[in-house]
Amino acid sequence: MISIKNLEKYYGKTKVLSDISVEIENGDIFGLVGVSGAGKSTLLRCMNGLEKYNSGSLMVNGTEVRNLNYQELRGFRKNIGMIFQQFSLIERKSVYENIALPMECWGYSKKK
Ligand SMILES: Nc1ncnc2c1ncn2[C@@H]1O[C@H](COP(=O)(O)OP(=O)(O)OP(=O)(O)O)[C@@H](O)[C@H]1O
Ligand SMILES: [Mg+2]
Repeated sequence: MISIKNLEKYYGKTKVLSDISVEIENGDIFGLVGVSGAGKSTLLRCMNGLEKYNSGSLMVNGTEVRNLNYQELRGFRKNIGMIFQQFSLIERKSVYENIALPMECWGYSKKK
């Protein structure tokens, strides 16, 4: 479950996330919609710890993401799949293979 309360994020003096609150239950398929620059990618990057947020709370399965140290983030991200908006797909692999690639690197069995 992802639980976000009153999240705020600044880049310098510019506020890019303002008072975001949302609850996403296990099994939910959740779409985030907004104009270019609205902050969709920034919010996703906060969810997996690629960006720090300034205030509010962002809990993933009971863990406050901001409190994780570098080492803990590595373990935390093992359970998160992310396809980046730019640059990060391997062209000779299919969509499925791109998504599964991190599992391959972590040594999961083919079946899993
Ligand atoms: N690293 C950064 N440093 C400074 N400002 C940034 C940075 N990344 C994003 N921004 C700014 O933060 C705001 C939100 O950007 P973000 O990329 O999250 O929007 P988005 O909703 O994903 O847009 P798009 O639909 O174009 O992907 C924009 O004004 C953007 O210019
Ligand atoms: Mg984006």
